[in-house]
Amino acid sequence: MPDHLRIHRPHLSYHYNEGLIIEDMLYSRILAKYPAPVLVYSAGKLRDNLKSLKAAVKGVAGRIGSPSDFPPPKFKFAYCLKACYASEVLKTISKSGVHVEVMSQKEFRLARKAGWKPGQMIWNSPGKSAADLELIVKEGVGQVNVDCLSELEDLDRIAGRHKRKVKFGIRLHPNLKGRTSAFIDDRNRFGFDTRRGAALKLCEDLTRFRNLRLSGIHAHAFIRESNWRRFRPYVAFMFDFAAKLYAHTDIRLDYINLGGGIDSRYRSRKADILLQTFIHVIRLKYAGLPYQPTVFLELGRYITADTGFGLARIVRIKKGKEAKWVILDMASNILIPLNSADFGVIPAQYKRGRALRYHVGDNLSSYAGVITRDCVLKGVAEGDCVLIENCGAYTQSMASQFGHEIPPVLVADKGNLKVCR
Ligand SMILES: Cc1ncc(COP(=O)(O)O)c(C=O)c1O
Repeated sequence: MPDHLRIHRPHLSYHYNEGLIIEDMLYSRILAKYPAPVLVYSAGKLRDNLKSLKAAVKGVAGRIGSPSDFPPPKFKFAYCLKACYASEVLKTISKSGVHVEVMSQKEFRLARKAGWKPGQMIWNSPGKSAADLELIVKEGVGQVNVDCLSELEDLDRIAGRHKRKVKFGIRLHPNLKGRTSAFIDDRNRFGFDTRRGAALKLCEDLTRFRNLRLSGIHAHAFIRESNWRRFRPYVAFMFDFAAKLYAHTDIRLDYINLGGGIDSRYRSRKADILLQTFIHVIRLKYAGLPYQPTVFLELGRYITADTGFGLARIVRIKKGKEAKWVILDMASNILIPLNSADFGVIPAQYKRGRALRYHVGDNLSSYAGVITRDCVLKGVAEGDCVLIENCGAYTQSMASQFGHEIPPVLVADKGNLKVCR
């Protein structure tokens, strides 16, 4: 097996003559049935990622020592649905018992179809319409995190009409000095402003919403984060907010939802250690709270990113003076060129030859069609097949009509292939 494949990839192996094996299936067998380009999910890897969530919580409990010093936090994981909509992937995740985070009516329907009950759902979005709120109340969505005052007023009115006392959470816009991401920039698109105690004041004055009860706080602050030190001030911010709220109002929250944003397990177990460390950081802050809320994490990339692979063919190789390019038939209409994308390219067949450094692009005329840069490939030629790793999140769910048809999406499970919708 080539060195670059020895690293943590239990679902992949390499036969010296026959090439890559995904979940006990030769890549050529998959392509004989579904010609490239295709997106293939590994069900085994998905189950392994889901198992690692529970293991991360257990691992931390073992490391910290006396449970009486640190009451074990009540942890619940949710899958952030927007990461991947493929039907068979969703069914496997819903069966595992994790909750699900949705942002729209479309996602609500997808989640229902995959087997999640409304009570297992979390609904977050920066602007829920009155129709969204109506559905949330009528169906009994388990957790709704309100983003602004008018949304709160609408929710109260709708709850009153349904003669229900509705529990809700508020999404906070964390005020973390020196920290920016698309989710905590200075423009405040997500959640209530927390500067100068604004969100706290709002929580202290909720009596006018007679049909509502504050039951949680939520925020989402990271994208592909791989450094636990950046979580610490964020976790402190959320728990300090809950502690102040308790001190000022006696409100005991049912939950603190910390969102997602952890990097995928691609290439190494670094993400597992990060998840354990994050949970450790939470546990320490949790011990300082005088009551025990449930802590939610909503993970998308961590659960699905490294379970999906592209199988593509090399259309052309261009050896220019400045750079060498490999051009693939799998394009940026599904390999979405987000800043956070991290696609890796591996030849599907072992070949002798010189290892050369290539950039890899698609065959569409768009400046966005770069799949990865500075990739070392050995002996590749036009017509060869390559495997593109880490394609499982924010690809299938964001695929577009641009340039090509969307490739078939398959799930490989113990030697069987299923087509996803
Ligand atoms: C509110 C919320 N929670 C969780 C996530 C999941 O993020 P990730 O896939 O990076 O874990 C997102 C992603 O955008 C999100 O918006």
